[in-house]
Amino acid sequence: MASIKHFKPLPPSKSLIPALYVPGFFLCDTAMTHPKVTVIGSINCDISFTVQNFPASNETILAQGSCLSMGGKGLNQAVAAACTGAQTAMIGCVGDDTFGHKSMTYARDNALNTSGLKTSFENPTGTAGILVNQSSDNMIVVAPGANADLTPEDIHAHKALITDADIVVAQMEVPGNAVRAAFDLARKAQVAILFNPAPATPEANALVPYADIITPNESETQTLTGIYPKDEDSAHRAAQALCTMGAKTALITMGATGCYLYTKGHGTLIPAFPVRAIDPTGAGDVFNGVLARCLASGDDLPMAARAASAAGALSVMQAGAEGAAPTWAQIQSFLRQMKPE
Ligand SMILES: Nc1ncnc2c1ncn2[C@@H]1O[C@H](COP(=O)(O)OP(=O)(O)O)[C@@H](O)[C@H]1O
Ligand SMILES: [Mg+2]
Repeated sequence: MASIKHFKPLPPSKSLIPALYVPGFFLCDTAMTHPKVTVIGSINCDISFTVQNFPASNETILAQGSCLSMGGKGLNQAVAAACTGAQTAMIGCVGDDTFGHKSMTYARDNALNTSGLKTSFENPTGTAGILVNQSSDNMIVVAPGANADLTPEDIHAHKALITDADIVVAQMEVPGNAVRAAFDLARKAQVAILFNPAPATPEANALVPYADIITPNESETQTLTGIYPKDEDSAHRAAQALCTMGAKTALITMGATGCYLYTKGHGTLIPAFPVRAIDPTGAGDVFNGVLARCLASGDDLPMAARAASAAGALSVMQAGAEGAAPTWAQIQSFLRQMKPE
């Protein structure tokens, strides 16, 4: 019989900074600088189903298992940054309901600064329905709910969380005018901007020029540029297009193929680490959270992209997005194992 998991909390050792202080892990020195990451984004309750095949239209199928967990790109990315030792704050909005209260607790349990989280009395907490099939492909539908209630005024009310950060991260699961307000504040304060244009809504196009680094996946890249990055050549052309649109650096994530890093006219494919993928849900979120942490602590782009790739690989080896974010020690240990002799 399939097991049903409900709000499995992270073990405390997974979530916090002490893992950074294990002697002998290289890069501990950068971790010691306590990089500050602020994430503006969504908070959802995810309901995931494992299925053999996706249902057809008008078809009812039985799932092999289900799992209720906290998610939303914003929350996932913030937790991933915090798990790797960043001092992480989140600006977002939940509903005044069970899922909203659960997500506040979950955020606090994962060491997030929750002072920028608002409770809406208009809409319920955002919800996502996720299907994962036997080939580990997913289909996701999101009801934004309270995420849609985040306003530019909310951003301004928490200005210091943005201007005091080393890097600001945002996606497109909250209103574009709130993201723009955050990017305007960050730009003025010379805080680095990581823009994950997911989903690639029409509003995302106008926000590309704010990005010090933009991180679309394959389908988001296609929506933004008209080019599907299926190999090195197409990724190079798509990355060039993103930089022509105004991004300083493009880092296109391509699932099991890896990611393509393009900056200052030069591009390189960073192949994915060969692992057995169980569930790809949230790989991009873990990737972005860890990328933000590394850039905030001063790592150069290739080094940050490599650590983020390792984190993405580690995350697909876990079921579900909640609890899939690795610690800094786990990433370093994985990188050492994967290092060519
Ligand atoms: N099957 C996989 N094996 C190894 N690494 C993976 C795998 N899937 C994703 N990754 C890593 O995670 C990153 C983000 O995954 P991706 O699927 O591109 O993002 P998203 O979840 O936004 O679609 C990839 O660039 C890669 O480094
Ligand atoms: Mg993907």
